[in-house]
Amino acid sequence: MIKARMIKVRKINFEFPDDVPFWFNPRSREASLVANNLSMMAPAFERYFIRAIRDVFPRIKSAAVREEADLFCRQEGQHSRSHIDHQEMLLRRYPALEATRDHINASYATLYEQESTEFALAYATTIELAFKPMAKFLVGNRQILFADGDPRITALVLWHFVEEFEHRSAMFNVYNDVVGNYVYRLRTIGRTRKHVAALAESTRKAMEACEPLPKVDPLAPQIPRLARIQLTLGLFETFSPLHNPESGEIPRWINDWMAKHDAGQDMTRVAL
Ligand SMILES: [Fe+2]
Ligand SMILES: [Fe+2]
Repeated sequence: MIKARMIKVRKINFEFPDDVPFWFNPRSREASLVANNLSMMAPAFERYFIRAIRDVFPRIKSAAVREEADLFCRQEGQHSRSHIDHQEMLLRRYPALEATRDHINASYATLYEQESTEFALAYATTIELAFKPMAKFLVGNRQILFADGDPRITALVLWHFVEEFEHRSAMFNVYNDVVGNYVYRLRTIGRTRKHVAALAESTRKAMEACEPLPKVDPLAPQIPRLARIQLTLGLFETFSPLHNPESGEIPRWINDWMAKHDAGQDMTRVAL
């Protein structure tokens, strides 16, 4: 019996005027790339996830999973909306990136048509499970990755990963309810990773052709090796048949972020 996690749909009014730098953090190539790749790609893959869930919605047997899946879709819809706002700012700066956005959108539309809905659910589950260790990594290293960045993009990326952490079980629960085949999910991981990696790479190249990524700053603080090892282990753990997205502690910063939002604070700026 699955207990539905209460997912909160938050509407946050981010604004990305033209004074936001194209690469938001001049001292971190890694954070700059994460933010821009996310804004270029997330609207497309989130739409793909939502489409897959909506298509199988009547097949979800558990009422709790159905309720959670609906909230998941609405939360992802909010992410898309804000990333599109950031994306539009990037495209205003460099209209050549319109072709990149179109390529990403077309790639997900084709994938949906060419593969089964079960494949789309497995793909979405692989990505969603990966977002939990990624959220821990980004939140855990937030000073190093975000302290020197534009606060508006910092707030966008961290909001997104707080909510990815919050809905960490939703897609996994839908997959298990509707498909329930662990081996099939495992077999799709290679293709999923290849598809995402190829799009991320072509997007990076297109963005770098517009404006080179910030140079590596030798004086900038470095992410500890242990944090990178933990991220890798966390990603591998999601492939295990025993993986439980609910296991482990909730990072305190994530709980604090939610409490501040509940208290009515403006989350378009965050304290690191
Ligand atoms: Fe999302
Ligand atoms: Fe998500």
